[in-house]
Amino acid sequence: MSRTRTPADAAPGDPLLEAEGLLEVDGLVVDLPVAGGAVRVVDRVTFDIPPATTVGLIGESGSGKTMTANAVIGLLPDGAATGGELRWRGENLLQASPARRRRLRGHEIAMIFQDPLGALNPTQTIGRQVGEILRRAGLSRAEVRRQVLELLERAGVPEPVTRMRSYPHEFSGGMRQRAMIALALAGNPALLLADEPTTALDVTVQARILRLLRSIQEDQGLAMLLVSHDLRVVAHVAHQVVVMYAGRVAERGPTAAVLAGPAHPYTRALVDSVPAVRTRTALAHPLPGTPATPANRPPGCAFHPRCPLARERCRTEEPQVRSVAPGRWAACHFAEELLQR
Ligand SMILES: Nc1ncnc2c1ncn2[C@@H]1O[C@H](COP(=O)(O)OP(=O)(O)O)[C@@H](O)[C@H]1O
Ligand code: SF4
Ligand SMILES: [Mg+2]
Repeated sequence: MSRTRTPADAAPGDPLLEAEGLLEVDGLVVDLPVAGGAVRVVDRVTFDIPPATTVGLIGESGSGKTMTANAVIGLLPDGAATGGELRWRGENLLQASPARRRRLRGHEIAMIFQDPLGALNPTQTIGRQVGEILRRAGLSRAEVRRQVLELLERAGVPEPVTRMRSYPHEFSGGMRQRAMIALALAGNPALLLADEPTTALDVTVQARILRLLRSIQEDQGLAMLLVSHDLRVVAHVAHQVVVMYAGRVAERGPTAAVLAGPAHPYTRALVDSVPAVRTRTALAHPLPGTPATPANRPPGCAFHPRCPLARERCRTEEPQVRSVAPGRWAACHFAEELLQR
């Protein structure tokens, strides 16, 4: 039986090496088991993460952002079923063995979460945890210590020589997030998934952690998937943005272009709800209505009950994601109208 070829198998000039995305999410579907059946929480989601690029994944709570990121790292709830493809350097991760997924996790693909306490071991020092992956790689004690100090420093942990001997509970929230970033970087990943990494932090600490993530991304040429319900978080960090609504992609494209001129009324509403992003007036308009959920998705366009532009067609015909301008995709029947405003 032949296994999927990866770029490691490719000779120079092989088309495998020219795959555009480091990660290509292609028609990703995630079904979660619920009483009496399954609910499709991620529905035909498609986007690329090119090397050394930050992609922001935004949308209200419940839109399927975490399940998309968890599918990429390979940590979906028990009983989840997947469809479509997740191509990592050309290899479909959804077909990869559990052993292969484990080997990628923490090494080539690492993840940080909203709650670092959930990811850190309370009984081990920060230094020991950050050094774990290096010890397993067979590095000498002295080399592990040198690299742990360097990783903590890179993550902005002050006085790393002292701090490496501390336990997670001795750190503040922001400092724990830095420790988790150091832990994630220890495997030297090519892609970092960051799911609401600053949501639990106060505003000044939030800004510092975002600056840190951006500088790490730039310095190391990392690719990053930054998941947030907060448009302000992705606005200044992400090169490209994917907007999700009720498990589906509403719109995607370059961040600056999308925020300056959304092609989907949902993106428009998100932009208008944030005073710092909206430039035309100082007033913010909260999003009207309540978010549709994957379990309770309205027919036609799922956004139609909240959409100021909705017409009869929107109630019956589901808009497909389509190219609406160079580099821009949107799932709205009337995207061109919005773009011309
Ligand atoms: N274990 C689960 N079983 C069933 N449904 C779930 C489970 N976890 C999350 N969901 C549902 O899946 C949808 C997507 O959730 P999630 O990806 O966490 O959204 P987001 O990260 O955008 O807030 C939500 O409607 C949520 O209620
Ligand atoms: S398809 Fe219709 S309801 Fe949906 S976003 Fe576009 S205009 Fe609004
Ligand atoms: Mg989430």
